Amino acid sequence: MVKTLRYVLKKPSVGMPREEDFQLLEENLPQIELGEFLCKAIYLSVDPYMRFFTSCVGSTIVGTQVAKVIESLNDQFPVGCHVIGDFGWRTYTIVNSLTENLSPFCRPTYVLDELPNHPLSLYLGSLGLTGNTAYFGLTEICQPKAGETIVVTGAAGAVGSHVGQIAKIKGCRVIGITGSKEKVDWLKTLGFDHVLNYNETNNLNAALAEAAPYGIDCYFDNVGGEISSIIMKNMAQYGRVVVCGSISSYNTDSTNLPKATLVQPLMLYKELKLEAFLVSRFNDRWIEGIRQNLQWLDNGQLQFRETIYNGFESMPNAFIGLFKGENIGKTIIQI
Ligand SMILES: NC(=O)c1ccc[n+]([C@@H]2O[C@H](COP(=O)([O-])OP(=O)(O)OC[C@H]3O[C@@H](n4cnc5c(N)ncnc54)[C@H](OP(=O)(O)O)[C@@H]3O)[C@@H](O)[C@H]2O)c1
Repeated sequence: MVKTLRYVLKKPSVGMPREEDFQLLEENLPQIELGEFLCKAIYLSVDPYMRFFTSCVGSTIVGTQVAKVIESLNDQFPVGCHVIGDFGWRTYTIVNSLTENLSPFCRPTYVLDELPNHPLSLYLGSLGLTGNTAYFGLTEICQPKAGETIVVTGAAGAVGSHVGQIAKIKGCRVIGITGSKEKVDWLKTLGFDHVLNYNETNNLNAALAEAAPYGIDCYFDNVGGEISSIIMKNMAQYGRVVVCGSISSYNTDSTNLPKATLVQPLMLYKELKLEAFLVSRFNDRWIEGIRQNLQWLDNGQLQFRETIYNGFESMPNAFIGLFKGENIGKTIIQI
C-alpha cells in the first residue's frame, strides 16, 4: 500500500504566511482501478498565486508538479512516463477522470516529452507556467519593438528574468528592478542593460530617469504598489503597461490594501495603455509557448536559474521564501 503526504492549510494565513499555518498529513492510498494511474511527485512548484488559496482551510494546497507514473491501468499514461499535473502539494496521487483539478489555470494532465539537455523541472518554470507567462505576456500583450526601452519588476524572479531575456532577444533595452546585490549581478550576466536595486537606490525616480532618458516604452509589472507608480511616472508618450502580478500586496487583507501614488493623471498626460492578463488566456497556445522557449534554451539565447529546496517538508518554507525575496529564478522543490 502506498502512503501519500499532503499539505493542507491549518488556519488562514494572515499577513506573511507562517510555517505553522500549514499541516502535513499522511494517508494510505487505495489500489488503482481500471483507467487510473498512480503518480509519484518528482518536482513541485511554489508560485505567488498560491497565496490566494491560503484561506481554504482543510483542502490540499493547490499546485503543479512533475511526476512519474509508477503504476498504471491506463494505456495513455504508461509506467515510467513523466507527466505534469495540477495535483496540489502531495507526494503520490491516483489520477483518473474524476481527479480534482487543483489548478486555477485549469490545464489537463499530460505526458511530457523527455528533455535530453535539460532537467524536467523546467516544465514548472521556463517550459511551463512562468515561461509561458513571460512569453505571451511580453510578446502578445506588450508587443515590444526593437530599440524600445522595457522595464521589468521582480526582474530576478522566475517570470521577470525570462521576460528580460526575451526582451533582449527582441532587440530592446532592458531595465530590471530587483531587491539584492546578488540578483543585480546575476541579471547583468544575462545581458540586462541596467539593473536597479530598490533596496539600495535612494531615489528610484531619478535613477529611472537617468537609465531611460527618453522614457519607458513598456513596463512589465510583477509587483504593483509604489514602485509601479514611480515607474509609470517615467513612461514615454503612448507607453504600455502590462500588469502581470502585484506581489507587493498579496499578503495584505483586500479590505486594507496599501496606498500608492495615484497613476491616472500620469496615464492621461502620457496617453498610456494598461492591460492586465492571466496566462490562462493563452491555454490554447500552451505548446507553442513551450516550443519557442525550448528553442531559445537550446540555442543558448535563454538561460534559467532555479532555487532548489530538497524534500517535500520544505514546501511551506520555499513558498514563504517567495515573499521574502529568497529565491533567484524559479523556486523548485525536489523530492
Ligand atoms: N498573470 C499571470 O497569469 C501570472 C502567472 C504567473 C505569475 N504571475 C505573477 O508574476 C509575478 C512573479 O511571479 P514569479 O513566479 O516569477 O515569482 P518570483 O518573482 O520568482 O518570486 C517572487 C519575487 O517577488 C519579489 N517580491 C516579493 N515580495 C515583494 C514585495 N513586497 N515588493 C516587491 N517585490 C517583492 C521578490 O524579488 P526581489 O528580491 O527582487 O524583491 C521575490 O523573489 C507574481 O506577481 C505572480 O503572481 C502572474
